[in-house]
Amino acid sequence: MPGRLIDGNVVSSSIRSRLTNRITKLKEKGISPCLATILVGNDPASAIYVQNKQKAAKQVGLIAQDHRLKDDLQQNELTILIDSLNNDSSVHGILVQLPLPKHINEFEIINKISPSKDVDGLTSINSGLLLHNEASLKPCTPSGIVELLDFYNIGIMSQNVIIVNRSILVGKPLALLMLERDATVTICHSKSVNLNRLLLQADIIITAVGDRSKFILKSEMVKDKAVVIDVGTNRQSGKLVGDVDFESVIEKASWITPVPGGVGPMTIAMLLSNTVTAAQNSVSPV
Ligand SMILES: NC(=O)c1ccc[n+]([C@@H]2O[C@H](COP(=O)([O-])OP(=O)(O)OC[C@H]3O[C@@H](n4cnc5c(N)ncnc54)[C@H](OP(=O)(O)O)[C@@H]3O)[C@@H](O)[C@H]2O)c1
Repeated sequence: MPGRLIDGNVVSSSIRSRLTNRITKLKEKGISPCLATILVGNDPASAIYVQNKQKAAKQVGLIAQDHRLKDDLQQNELTILIDSLNNDSSVHGILVQLPLPKHINEFEIINKISPSKDVDGLTSINSGLLLHNEASLKPCTPSGIVELLDFYNIGIMSQNVIIVNRSILVGKPLALLMLERDATVTICHSKSVNLNRLLLQADIIITAVGDRSKFILKSEMVKDKAVVIDVGTNRQSGKLVGDVDFESVIEKASWITPVPGGVGPMTIAMLLSNTVTAAQNSVSPV
């Protein structure tokens, strides 16, 4: 029997409808939750991501500020904008769309964002809190993956979880969230050896490579009834595809996410959720 589909659109719309209720309650208290996005430069993929985030924010009833800056800007112009948003009490969440142009120090920029408004959960403070299981604002893609698994009652405890990615955005925070849920976690990357052997032992595979010339998850790399979460995004003849050879892997997996319509909608839903949490925390700080 083929695997069952983990539908990110279904799960994200259930999260969004709960958010609308939380937003209504905040508005009754005189707080209008507001997300400010910052896009530097003209990268078409980044522009689409920001556009989707703006649209989704407005749909759930958030106020959405859209800040666009030229890619030749100086680092201090960006920090001035972030400072002004940090000091603006009507703004609750700040998202700087990554990646930034090469001449900008991404680490410094991320850490300019006030941790209480860091709705991407990437500042050093929030990463540290995540390490201690104390984070209120968690990175969106990893927390979206946990929400997907929970929605379908897919157990995490004691499972062998393999994450093919070690970025600060996906793999590292995801490993912490999986550990928090009592999984046994292995992180793999481009220098890992015997990746196929490790993958075959996994109960849950989460892949986020995003380059099919380097890595494709094929059915012979997946054990029977494994759960497969595909975070990767690749363009193939203008079409969006993941890291997974979907048609063959679905025959082996127990559960699988499609691309598009799997993890992507969850990343946006968790961003909106973090913005509402940040607005709530501004009234009753954690
Ligand atoms: N759907 C969503 O909402 C969402 C959200 C975030 C990211 N993404 C997608 O996820 C992908 C990764 O994003 P990212 O920002 O984390 O990118 P990244 O920093 O480039 O991470 C890619 C990871 O893949 C590893 N890798 C590369 N070749 C490999 C190979 N042959 N075998 C095993 N691992 C290999 C890299 O290893 P090294 O560390 O050794 O280089 C790295 O850890 C992209 O396609 C991105 O668009 C999607």
